[in-house]
Amino acid sequence: MERTVNGVRLAVREAGAAEKPALLLIHGFPLDSAMWDAQLSGLAQHCRVVAPDLRGHGASDAPPGPYSIDQHADDLAALLDALGIQRAVVGGLSMGGYVALSVWRRHPARVSALALIDTRANADTPEAKAAREATIGRIRERGVAVLAEEMLPRLLAPENQGKTEIERAVREMILRQPVEGMAGALEAMRDRADATDLLTGVTVPAAVIVGEADVITPVSVAEDLARRLPDARLVVVPRAGHMAPVEAPQEVNAALLELARRTG
Ligand code: MLT
Repeated sequence: MERTVNGVRLAVREAGAAEKPALLLIHGFPLDSAMWDAQLSGLAQHCRVVAPDLRGHGASDAPPGPYSIDQHADDLAALLDALGIQRAVVGGLSMGGYVALSVWRRHPARVSALALIDTRANADTPEAKAAREATIGRIRERGVAVLAEEMLPRLLAPENQGKTEIERAVREMILRQPVEGMAGALEAMRDRADATDLLTGVTVPAAVIVGEADVITPVSVAEDLARRLPDARLVVVPRAGHMAPVEAPQEVNAALLELARRTG
């Protein structure tokens, strides 16, 4: 399915009946909504699962930047309008978590619960901002293969690396991303606001889900998020790294379903 919001065509994967509780899933970087395939198939009997490609990613338009995390959040609020969804459980992985927190900041009435998956609330440090700049330079020079080379070893738990089906699928996803979109995403992440102060004011149920072998946003970061959120459950997923929904879909689906049920 496709929807045009804020002048940009977004590709959207959807599963489950319209009358079920809505679950909006926001992918990470440098990925697209295919990372939610196992959630779309595994949760469709319980939820209306909506997984868009953010602008600049996957099969969505990749207009020239600048992009911002808040702009993604506004795109998603407009997408919910276009789909006739008033409130959704909003879940995001890593960069998708930054967007989920921005949806909460800017459009709280649209959020029935928050799932923060392999993500963090703090902004980039000066060193991280400089690293984003350097990565933008490398992908403009050598293409997105650089991202696959540099990120794959850090995205997956050791047992999922190598010649596994999981690594093949994630590599393919990275290699199909447009250079302009990836540069825009890196700029958006570099410039994102710190969301730490938001956490204590979250009035909806939350789940903080993290792969036990996540080296990008480790368990200690997830523990800190869960401590600050007033009504959060922490789920540490065995045999998973930074891509827990892909690496251990059953455990992640169970945590998302439990969260959806907590919204009543
Ligand atoms: C992601 O997985 O979305 C990115 O690694 C997040 C980031 O680079 O901050």
